[in-house]
Amino acid sequence: MSDSATSGAAPAARPRVLSGIQPTADSYTLGNYLGAVRQWVALQDEFEPFFFIADLHALTVEQDPKVLRERTYVAVAQLLAAGVDPERSAIFVQSHLPEHAELGWIMQTITGFGEARRMTQFKDKSAKGGEGAASVGLFAYPMLMAADILLYRPQYVPVGEDQRQHLELARDLAGRFNSRYKKTFRLPEPYILKETAKIYDLQDPTSKMSKSASSPNGLVSLLDDPKVTAKKIRSAVTDSGSEVRYDPEEKPGVSNLLTIYSALTGESFETLEQKYAGSGYGAFKGDLAEVMVEFVTPFRDRTLALMADKAHLDRVLADGAGKARAVASRTLADAYDRVGLVPAAR
Ligand code: AMP
Ligand code: TRP
Repeated sequence: MSDSATSGAAPAARPRVLSGIQPTADSYTLGNYLGAVRQWVALQDEFEPFFFIADLHALTVEQDPKVLRERTYVAVAQLLAAGVDPERSAIFVQSHLPEHAELGWIMQTITGFGEARRMTQFKDKSAKGGEGAASVGLFAYPMLMAADILLYRPQYVPVGEDQRQHLELARDLAGRFNSRYKKTFRLPEPYILKETAKIYDLQDPTSKMSKSASSPNGLVSLLDDPKVTAKKIRSAVTDSGSEVRYDPEEKPGVSNLLTIYSALTGESFETLEQKYAGSGYGAFKGDLAEVMVEFVTPFRDRTLALMADKAHLDRVLADGAGKARAVASRTLADAYDRVGLVPAAR
């Protein structure tokens, strides 16, 4: 064991956390926030954090270039508004580090075709237009994600439940590379909080709240006018009966609202159940609508203020890319060396 803790020498390095989010909407959803970004904020104290906007991943389905650029900025602004702190966290854009695409290629070379085809997200997304219409990039998406992660040798990757299978692939690929060549990568662990791992659609509480929801009424977009959000909460689908009780099997709609309520206020399910005993769904939803408004109003104001100063956002990203590059370039060099690539002469 090192004696640095007692000698007052440099403190031991903190373990790392890393995660990414795609710039594929004009606003984060409540699912993005409760499932992922909130944990990013919480983990900043104890870990050395790397958080990035996965713009290369966004390209796996067709994007309008102008819209993509704007969404990348709004994604960064929302991270800052949510409390990700550029002093403590490296905040960057994936495409600013060519190491991601480069290690992504190496990951593709050690992934089996059948293994990639089993990824449920690929199956779902390619099912829409038929597999033949899906891009090769969409197929290779999980290998790029594995590279994103492995470059930083993080301990934890905080994500929502829908990313679990991708994380398992990243672990498999890390293990495969390590045993085929030499120990290079750390096997990352998912950090998925049970309570908020999956936030459900307000109108269809058996499917995930998602940007691609069939009806906009089921989706809370954090940058919407708070009045619109309040209305969506008040008209959320509830279940038969009138009892406010956490029971995901019997009462998926009410349970989803309880999850959201509890996550935003810190009140336990039991406390909330007691508070609304006998008062029916109306009062419950009315109060939750208020809680939501109190949360989204300052979030939206901060985001809009940050969007007014793109030069500031660019500086945050340049700084974040610098911190990320210091780590990623070394890992990539190790990986290139271990597979037998000749280093370029200087
Ligand atoms: P994406 O917008 O697909 O890049 O997702 C960003 C993060 O939000 C990922 O960690 C997802 O797992 C998480 N996420 C997205 N939708 C939900 C949801 N409905 N419930 C919980 N987490 C979610
Ligand atoms: N695929 C993730 C999502 O859609 C985004 C992502 C890309 C990511 N690379 C990552 C998440 C690396 C965690 C780690 O949510």
